[in-house]
Amino acid sequence: MNFLSQKRILLGVSGGIAAYKSAELVRQLRAAGAAVRVVMTPAATGFVAARTFQALSGERVWSDWSDDRSGMDHIELARWADRILIAPASADTLARLAHGRADDLLAAVCLASTVPLCVAPAMNQAMWGNAATRHNIALLRERNVQVWGPAAGAQACGESGPGRMLEPDALVRAVADSFSSERLAGVRVVVTAGPTREAIDPVRFISNRSSGKMGYAVAQAAREAGAQVALVSGPVELDAPDGVTRTMVESAQEMLEAVLAEVSTGCDLFIGAAAVADYRPASASARKIKKRADCTSLDLQPAPDILATVAALENRPFCVGFAAETEQLQRHAQKKRLGKGVEMIAANRVGKGLGFETDQNELLLVWEGGSQLLAMDAKTRLARRLIECVADLYRHRTKHQDFAQDHAENSA
Ligand SMILES: Cc1cc2nc3c(=O)[nH]c(=O)nc-3n(C[C@H](O)[C@H](O)[C@H](O)COP(=O)(O)O)c2cc1C
Repeated sequence: MNFLSQKRILLGVSGGIAAYKSAELVRQLRAAGAAVRVVMTPAATGFVAARTFQALSGERVWSDWSDDRSGMDHIELARWADRILIAPASADTLARLAHGRADDLLAAVCLASTVPLCVAPAMNQAMWGNAATRHNIALLRERNVQVWGPAAGAQACGESGPGRMLEPDALVRAVADSFSSERLAGVRVVVTAGPTREAIDPVRFISNRSSGKMGYAVAQAAREAGAQVALVSGPVELDAPDGVTRTMVESAQEMLEAVLAEVSTGCDLFIGAAAVADYRPASASARKIKKRADCTSLDLQPAPDILATVAALENRPFCVGFAAETEQLQRHAQKKRLGKGVEMIAANRVGKGLGFETDQNELLLVWEGGSQLLAMDAKTRLARRLIECVADLYRHRTKHQDFAQDHAENSA
């Protein structure tokens, strides 16, 4: 699958001969579906013109503090990125990163970022072998900075040895691989997403403001974690994530049927992120209802509760539900978790500018004996953190179940 589709890559370019290869790197990242923003060090602008990166990335290019037009661009850039890759990473830039400096825009972005930082060093072989560089690299590795390369071979300076930047195609593969994990390898996951539409008559329906973005991001994150993912989606304007099978439905009843069909063919983990209608018209008129009087009323009946139905199945999967709340998140989430009999609830605050139809969200995860707040972030990143937590809890539970089963068999 293409792990780079829709990913946001911040490419840092520092002052080294290999900067000319970074132009090709931007081209390849874009071709793989990633959005790319380039931050150059002032020294790098002496090697390749910013305009080259501007044309290839389709975005403005940042290099020194005067490009930080809002005064907060360095923070915005740090928040925007899913990954930061510095290629080439000069000895000087590596030293600044190792010592936590923020004296140029690129170093400041790295310091303000919480996403994985990857560097592709490129320098003369003696500079690479110098004890100062070795020490800086060791410091960066200790902080989980991923150091890719360098390769060994002929160098621009005429020498030969380790210090060549990895080729763009190898760096693109490394960035893509950095998005995949094996946390849910072999796990079959069913995810629901989007709103449902409950027909009133052939032209009208009751629905809600769900955009489906959170559920789709969860499906994609589960796929990236190695799961086999089936997505059951209400009507939304989103493309199916790469490598995910999708069934489109309209009503809560159709969603329930599609979910049960998926679960019956094998499902280890069910994540109900769809905003399923609580109520539907007691009967949908076969013909368009004519305007007759000044006011009219609609009889409603409860729509099927998909999460509770799945949670009540024999041999049921590990269940995670979503809750949209306007107040008292923790209390309502725990109540919903117990009421539905599910392992985890991911609660998000909804209201003006929150939750629905936005690209950002905040989630409170609650499970038996624990909770965790996933602070406001892009839904794509939030989904990855949610999947990490779900995977940990899922693995923990299944390990205990296996242990209990072994214990029961041994005592029998
Ligand atoms: C022609 C030329 C080539 C250079 N090539 C490299 C290089 O490949 N790697 C490196 O670490 N430094 C190289 N340098 C030195 C850096 O440009 C210099 O250390 C600069 O301060 C790096 O700044 P930056 O890390 O902020 O981009 C080169 C300098 C010149 C003049």
